Amino acid sequence: MNNKNKILNDFWDILNLAEDYISSGLIKNHSGFAVSSDSLEKISADISVCKQCRLGQTRNNTVPGSGNHNPMLMIIGEGPGAEEDKTGQPFVGRAGQYLDKWMEAIGLNRHDYIFLGNIVKCRPPKNRDPFEDEIALCLPYLERQIALLKPKLILSVGRISSQVLTHSNLGIGKLRGKSYEYQGIELITTYHPSAVLRILMSTESRYGKTLKE
Ligand code: URA
Repeated sequence: MNNKNKILNDFWDILNLAEDYISSGLIKNHSGFAVSSDSLEKISADISVCKQCRLGQTRNNTVPGSGNHNPMLMIIGEGPGAEEDKTGQPFVGRAGQYLDKWMEAIGLNRHDYIFLGNIVKCRPPKNRDPFEDEIALCLPYLERQIALLKPKLILSVGRISSQVLTHSNLGIGKLRGKSYEYQGIELITTYHPSAVLRILMSTESRYGKTLKE
């Protein structure tokens, strides 16, 4: 099997794993990182005025995250891209639309079952990787969100968010396929939808063939 097909097969395996976790109704006790007066609205308001790091100078809109407030699944990406920076909503560009298809494939949608968020809440210029200090300053917002949302399962997409949430330097190929815990919640990791989309598009243009999409 060539490398691209292996990545796609691995990716479908992880979606099946997510489906298994969700349908088994697995809920872990949650230790809680939130202060009792905290709320999602307050977190979003705090993010909206945040200027703790350099990303606050270049963003157009903060992207705190959105979706169901009692989610089965919380999907965490790296950070907003151009479309997200324009609209203030997570995963609304091409990768996000493709992510919607993944979710539909396992019977979920972003409004009823999922909360979508990111490691950093402001767009890094030219979509560069967020720097370590930017991640460290932004992470408490995500931790507060997780503590309030208490998802049954966290799915981290892509290398950056997966390394941060698993406290590892390994690449996504090594991190994926195992289960971890973050704030007492089951965490699984997989490729970023933009990476899978890139592979699909290059395979299609080379072979004129549509793979599982
Ligand atoms: N990629 C991400 O990781 N997050 C978004 O919100 C959009 C694209």
